[in-house]
Amino acid sequence: LVIILDFGGHNNQLIARRIRECNVYCEVLPYNTSIEKILQLSPKGIITIGGEIDVNKQDAPNYDSKIYTLGIPVLGINYGCQLMTYSLGGKVSPAPNRKYGTMKINIDSSSKLFQNVSNQTSCLISQMNIETTANDFKVIASSESCPVAAIEDRKRNLYGLLFHPEADQTPEGIRILKNFLYDICKCNGTWNMSSFVENSIRQLKEKIGDKKVLCALSGGVDSSVAAVMINKAVGKQLTCIFVDHGLLRKNEADEVEEIFTNQFDINLIRVNAQERFYEKLAGVTDPERKRKIIGEEFIRVFEEEAKKIGKVDYLVQGTIYPDIIESGVGQSGVIKSHHNVGGLPDYVDFKEIIEPLRDLFKDEVRKAGLELGIPEKLVFRQPFPGPGLAVRIIGDITPQKVKILQEADYIYREEIAKAGLDKHISQYFAVLTNIRSVGVTNDERTYDYTVALRAVKTIDFMTAEYVELPWEVLGLVSKRIINEVDHVNRVCYDITGKPPATIEWE
Ligand code: XMP
Repeated sequence: LVIILDFGGHNNQLIARRIRECNVYCEVLPYNTSIEKILQLSPKGIITIGGEIDVNKQDAPNYDSKIYTLGIPVLGINYGCQLMTYSLGGKVSPAPNRKYGTMKINIDSSSKLFQNVSNQTSCLISQMNIETTANDFKVIASSESCPVAAIEDRKRNLYGLLFHPEADQTPEGIRILKNFLYDICKCNGTWNMSSFVENSIRQLKEKIGDKKVLCALSGGVDSSVAAVMINKAVGKQLTCIFVDHGLLRKNEADEVEEIFTNQFDINLIRVNAQERFYEKLAGVTDPERKRKIIGEEFIRVFEEEAKKIGKVDYLVQGTIYPDIIESGVGQSGVIKSHHNVGGLPDYVDFKEIIEPLRDLFKDEVRKAGLELGIPEKLVFRQPFPGPGLAVRIIGDITPQKVKILQEADYIYREEIAKAGLDKHISQYFAVLTNIRSVGVTNDERTYDYTVALRAVKTIDFMTAEYVELPWEVLGLVSKRIINEVDHVNRVCYDITGKPPATIEWE
C-alpha cells in the first residue's frame, strides 16, 4: 500500500490512477489524516501532492514534520515538495520569470528516482522556486530558469519533485513513479483490478454489515458495476429498483432484467412505468421540458417503490471520479457529486450514500465490471442519455413514435456491429425527426417519417467529429429500415460535428 496525502489541486486521483497503472495499491487520504492513522495502515511509501499553492501563505495546508522521520519513503510532488523543503528548513518562493507549464529539465542520472530516464526530459513544472534546499538535500534536476526541479535526501529516503510526474505533459513521469514505487518503496507491483474488486467487496461487507441497501439501477455501466459489487458483498440485503420509463432502446429493459435476476440473482424490482411517462410527456415538444418531466417522474416512481421497502440504511450511487467536482482543499473539503438521470431522490429514507466507484476512471470501471463477470455487452455499452429516446424523438412523443425509433435504431446498431465498427465509434444512434415527406412504396404514395442516423467519435463528449461510415453500411441500414419499419420512407445521415451541433439532436 502507498498512501497519497492530498493537499488539494486536481491531480489527486490522476496520481492514484497512475499508481494503479504501475500495479501498486494506493489510497488517497485528506491532508488532515493523522500520523497515527497512516502508521496503522503501514504503507510502503507516502506521496504528498498538491497544486499551485504557495507554502508561505498563512492559510497554506501544513503537516506534522514527523512524517519525514517515520523511516517510510516520502515523495513530495509540487506542493508536497515545497512543504517538505519548507518544513525541514529550506526556503521556497514564487518564481519571478516562470509560469506553471511544460519545461525541459536536466536530471542527475545517479539518483534512484531517475534510473532509465533521459538526461534531458520534459515535465509539467510548478511556478514556485526552491531558493534554498533543506539540510542534507541534494538537487537532482534543474534547468536554467528552474535551478531546483527535484531534490533527494537518500539517507532519509525523502524525495521531492517540483513537477508533476502523473501529468500527460511529463512523458517519462511513469518511469519516475515506477522507480519510486519499485526501487525505493520496494513495492512488488502485483496489484491489479481483481485485487481492487476483492478488496472493495471485503470493505463493503465490513461497512454494511447486516444493514439494508437500495440502488437505482439504470442499466448503464456505472450503476450496474456498483450494484453487482454490492451484491457480491451483501447479497439479498441489496434491493435494486429499475424504472422502465418506456424510453429505453429495443429489448434493453428485458436484457437488464435478465442479467440482474438470472445471472446475478439480485433482488430486482422492475417498475413498468411506461404509461405514466407517456402520459406526462403527451404533447410536450420542448427538449428541456421533456428532460425535466422525465427527471421528476423518475424520482416520483423511485420514491413510491422505495416507500414500499421502508427504511433502508444505505443508498448506492454509481458515481465515478470524473463525476466528482471538487471544491475546497483536499478530500476533506466539500465535494459535490454530479447526479445523473433524474438526480437523487432526496426524500428516500436512508442514512448514508455509498459510492464504491468514486475513485475510478471510466475505463477502470469497465475493467472492474469484467472482473465481476458482467457481460461485455453491458460493460462496453455506449453512453445512453438518462431521458433516453425522448431526446431522440423530435417534437412530441407517442408510443407509436417510440416503437418506430426503437426498431430503426435496433437495425442500425445491428448493422454497425455486424460490420465490426461498434468498437471504433463513441456513440451512434437513430433519431426520429418530425419531418414527414412524400415517398412511393409499391406504386403507392406515402407520407411518412424521416429517420436520421448519427455516429460520432469523441474523447470527452465535449467536442465530437462525425464518423465517415462506409456507404455500403449506410445503404444497407437505409434499405432495411425502409423495408422493415412501418411509417419510415426516408433515411438521412448526419454529417455535423460538435460544435456546431450537439451529439444528441435535442
Ligand atoms: P450533447 O448532446 O450535449 O451530448 O452533445 C453529450 C453527451 O451527453 C449525453 N447526454 C445526456 N446524458 N442526460 C444524460 O444522462 C441528458 O439529458 C443528456 N443529454 C445528452 C449524450 O448522449 C452524449 O453522450
